[in-house]
Amino acid sequence: MILPIYVIGNSVLRKKAEDVTKDYPDLKKLIEDMFETMYKTDGVGLAAPQVGLSLRLVVVDAGGMTDDENDVFTKSFKRAFINPEIIETFGENVSYNEGCLSIPGLYENVVRPDGVKIKYYDENFQLKEETLTGACARVVQHEFDHLEGVLFTDKVGALKRKLIKNKLANIAKGKFQQRFKVKLA
Ligand code: NI
Repeated sequence: MILPIYVIGNSVLRKKAEDVTKDYPDLKKLIEDMFETMYKTDGVGLAAPQVGLSLRLVVVDAGGMTDDENDVFTKSFKRAFINPEIIETFGENVSYNEGCLSIPGLYENVVRPDGVKIKYYDENFQLKEETLTGACARVVQHEFDHLEGVLFTDKVGALKRKLIKNKLANIAKGKFQQRFKVKLA
């Protein structure tokens, strides 16, 4: 089932999300629906708050992501993350042009560390630890931010933030090309 995407301006995107419990009803179905929604909207990651649920749950499929020179720099990276945590970051700070399904049509450069060490539960509630760099680390950091109520536009420089303020206000009002079903505030 394809779920509507909650757009910037909706308060669910600004909440700190709650842990997922083992007995959360129909968790497998929710994860399936989130993957389906992400594929249908051409996203590479989707966090539960983006479908209106204040839950610490993220799906990612960053297979085939390209860098600025259009070199494919991740072959396959499909994961469901339950209650994920970033244990540490490492490496150089890298700038990359990010977008977000909850901020349709807006892309800005965001600086983040190149590497992360994470722990999370997978879809079978098995505890996992992983070390990621490059595109995978980028997507994970963007998606995990959603669980803290943080959007990528919070991370651009102060001047840039001023410049995009009106754009964000218009997006919040639904003034963008709607390619998929959305929920405004
Ligand atoms: Ni996003």
